[in-house]
Amino acid sequence: MQAIITAVGGYVPEYRLTNQVLETIIDTNDEWIKTRTGISERRILQGKHNGVSTMIIPAVQQIIDKKNLDPMEIDCIICGTTTADNVFPGVSNEVAYRIGAKNAYGFDLSAACSGFLFALTVGANLIESKRHKKVIVVGADKMSSIVNYSDRTTCMLFGDGAGAVLLEGTEEKLGFMDSILRSDGSGKDFLYMKGGGSSNPPSFDTVLGNQHVVFQEGQQVFKVAVKAMAGVCVDIMKKNNLSNKDIDWLVPHQANLRIINATVERMDISMDRVTINIEKFGNTTAATIPLCLWEWEKKFKKGQNIILTSFGGGFTWGATWIKWAY
Ligand code: UT7
Repeated sequence: MQAIITAVGGYVPEYRLTNQVLETIIDTNDEWIKTRTGISERRILQGKHNGVSTMIIPAVQQIIDKKNLDPMEIDCIICGTTTADNVFPGVSNEVAYRIGAKNAYGFDLSAACSGFLFALTVGANLIESKRHKKVIVVGADKMSSIVNYSDRTTCMLFGDGAGAVLLEGTEEKLGFMDSILRSDGSGKDFLYMKGGGSSNPPSFDTVLGNQHVVFQEGQQVFKVAVKAMAGVCVDIMKKNNLSNKDIDWLVPHQANLRIINATVERMDISMDRVTINIEKFGNTTAATIPLCLWEWEKKFKKGQNIILTSFGGGFTWGATWIKWAY
């Protein structure tokens, strides 16, 4: 039994936070942001009390509509996210309830920018073990809820969005072929939120100290990200005897165009086989990969080899090889 993606859904909010608008908020300029990151604008979810579920629900609903799916048939919903509506419970429960998936259980998976990739492996295993027939895997983040808009070194990077896939099973040699997932806790202090967790619960001090926002030492993260993401892509190719000619598409996490370029160079593949939408969405954390799948879905062809790859806080990173199934 092979796990295959049989539908993709996505959602990005309407409001575009452009580099020009950022120029009015922080000491930056369009040229610097574009050259250093590749980003021109990012989408921001507006509206008081609109949490990440506000974006996940329409993304999953698209899948239900496309496939004419009875939500009662969904067995499980896994959401890779760092920005659930609440610290607890997981947003997956809310999503299941709101789409009418009464037979499904759900849980959130915390792996920062690698949340979708890690959740995909878990979901694929649930299908391939024949435990479940239909699993929804989501990657979604409302980064604007945890970004410090006075920190010019991080706020220009992030945006909001949600993407989702439906996993089902097939006897054909398609879908989920292999996955290499990695994490290294020694990188924690370079990219994390200082306050709000159980080691440093919310208090006046954490609020006054602006500790409920993303803290990142950009250069340190950049160095490790380039090495790790490119390295794991080459590893999965070697492990499976895949040459650069065998790779039809690379779907990389969209954190920085320079990290993507370095990965493409190491894999020695051409740029027209790489999904890139960082210029318009920025880094949507767990949502970058499913949003690329959503945007490129019509270009993928049955049987094509696709490598999905990510790097993020934790550190967490990985590469997954799939054969597109439709
Ligand atoms: O998805 C999770 C993983 N995250 C990542 O992969 C992000 C990894 N890091 C990066 O993408 C990059 O490190 C950044 C885009 C965050 C920063 O780019 P950089 O080339 O590493 O810049 P830098 O931090 O070395 O800063 C260079 C200069 C500094 O000025 P000085 O000290 O040379 O005078 C910064 O203060 O650029 C300055 N700078 C800015 N200038 C204009 C930093 N941010 C800005 C800004 N606008 N927004």
